[in-house]
Amino acid sequence: MKTQKKRIGVYPGSFDPLTNGHLDIIIRASKLFDLLIVGVLKNDSKKALFTMDERVEHIRKCTKGMENVKVEMFEGLLVDFVKQKGADTIVRGLRAVSDYEYELQMAMLNKHMSQETDTIFFMTDIHNSFLSSSVIKDIAQHGGNIHGLVPEEIVDDIYAKMKGIKTAKL
Ligand SMILES: Nc1ncnc2c1ncn2[C@@H]1O[C@H](COP(=O)(O)OP(=O)(O)O)[C@@H](O)[C@H]1O
Ligand SMILES: [Mg+2]
Repeated sequence: MKTQKKRIGVYPGSFDPLTNGHLDIIIRASKLFDLLIVGVLKNDSKKALFTMDERVEHIRKCTKGMENVKVEMFEGLLVDFVKQKGADTIVRGLRAVSDYEYELQMAMLNKHMSQETDTIFFMTDIHNSFLSSSVIKDIAQHGGNIHGLVPEEIVDDIYAKMKGIKTAKL
């Protein structure tokens, strides 16, 4: 009997920090694969608020009960990470038309570099369509309410980070 190849997908991103929009994509995408790897990109040209370890830890905490979801960091080309993991599908999310051009370019570049790798897109849930890591940081920085916008497990950590930054600036 031929055993079927395990289906592995990679959901890459900055996740600085994880939002309910990201988590929703993780939950929905995890249903399509035997294993979904959330890949946290170490990108030196994009200044992050949270460290790699913090971002990985946030996602691990929020996906604890999800047995086929793994969280890892990666550097370098996404297509190399995808191949290294034995995956053939990249998962991305689309919020608005404004995401489309960049995502199309990335999907095409990745296809060009690796013919066997496809990118699939999940449309945002309408309740998350206005969420991005940047708006979360803006709201939290000014003491606004981020409950309901990011997973409850990481709310305190986000506020604590903002407080730390403000104190450091004094
Ligand atoms: N609210 C949301 N709903 C659906 N998808 C989202 C949402 N926010 C971000 N995404 C998607 O999640 C992926 C990772 O986003 P992000 O953490 O900003 O990393 P990147 O630096 O790669 O853009 C992207 O495909 C992005 O479009
Ligand atoms: Mg982004």
